[in-house]
Amino acid sequence: NSNIAILKTFVKEGSGVDIVSGGELYRALKAGANPNKIVYSGVGKRADEIEYALKVGILMFNVESPEELRALNESARRLKKKASFAIRVNPDVEPKTHPYISTGLKKNKFGIEANKAVREYVYAKNNLKNLIPLGVDCHIGSQITQLSPFVDALKKTKNIIALLRSEGIDVQYLDIGGGLGITYKDEDAPHPSKYGKAVMDETKGLGVTLIFEPGRVMVGNAGILVTKVLYTKQGTEKNFIIVDAAMNDLARPSLYGSYHAIKAVRKTASPIPLLVKSPSSPPLEKGDEGGFEIVADVVGPICESGDFFAKDRPLPFFQSGDLMALMSAGAYGFSMSSNYNSRPRAAEVMVKGNKFSVIRERESYKDLIKGEKLV
Ligand SMILES: Cc1ncc(COP(=O)(O)O)c(C=O)c1O
Repeated sequence: NSNIAILKTFVKEGSGVDIVSGGELYRALKAGANPNKIVYSGVGKRADEIEYALKVGILMFNVESPEELRALNESARRLKKKASFAIRVNPDVEPKTHPYISTGLKKNKFGIEANKAVREYVYAKNNLKNLIPLGVDCHIGSQITQLSPFVDALKKTKNIIALLRSEGIDVQYLDIGGGLGITYKDEDAPHPSKYGKAVMDETKGLGVTLIFEPGRVMVGNAGILVTKVLYTKQGTEKNFIIVDAAMNDLARPSLYGSYHAIKAVRKTASPIPLLVKSPSSPPLEKGDEGGFEIVADVVGPICESGDFFAKDRPLPFFQSGDLMALMSAGAYGFSMSSNYNSRPRAAEVMVKGNKFSVIRERESYKDLIKGEKLV
């Protein structure tokens, strides 16, 4: 989540920021991030974005292709600056996650394959005079729930660091990316302390400053999407609970078929079941809400059948007007939201103890047409 209030919360704790666009750099600076603690990843950095980052003096660019390396050198030359870089190495490690969020395989668009990366560092050292090799970067994917892919990637990255040092290239930073997974349903993701220990064991004596880019594990389970039930409907094959949030607010179920736990927002559970088990639903299991009364699809108002939050889900009783919480929506939730179907985006509210602050106002219809012109 890139809301500046959330960024500031981390910045105040001493965190740096990993960015993937000029817009994210703008947000990081607005949140008060120290440019010297900003790294810039992403396969498609535009020249204007590179120059913005050079002007504010970020720590380093995580470069993802040979052409980008030359473009970075060219931008730095134009601005009469030196650009520090790491190459994002693609270690060809299977992260055992959803294919859309695996990034460290040869077939993925990210990074440069190990041997080629070493050649690029050597080429840069000899030919690209406005560049300074500062580190090595490796981010293999997201929602990774085992330690072994991280350890495998680290082993490969350590070999690269050794090779680079033998070529006289001074590697000061190792950016090991993010990717640690969280529990959405029953995933048994390692605790960050276990991940930390595995990284420390693997990098002992390596003589580098480590950079971490965790996202989901920091905020995923810190956020929920609260929506209101508009209608309930009993179809011939299924029950539907139609809510006022939609795939434009939380895209993960539509995009990856992701599971988000669903809870009723009420002080006491209502005992009256309105809907019955649908004929097509699977054998009932105890839901993680601690009991259920219906099996239904939870869907939004958007004109796509892909607009759903849950399918054939055992749920507690809901009726029109009830509030429903879609759990674990703190990461890749609002940040992936859109205005599809001309739906103003939701407000964002930060809660601390029994206090709350609105950190982003609900969008208005006027916001929807901002910048548009009648011709
Ligand atoms: C380069 C990079 N670093 C870090 C992250 C954060 O990953 P996660 O949220 O899985 O920790 C991402 C996610 O897309 C990324 O692309």
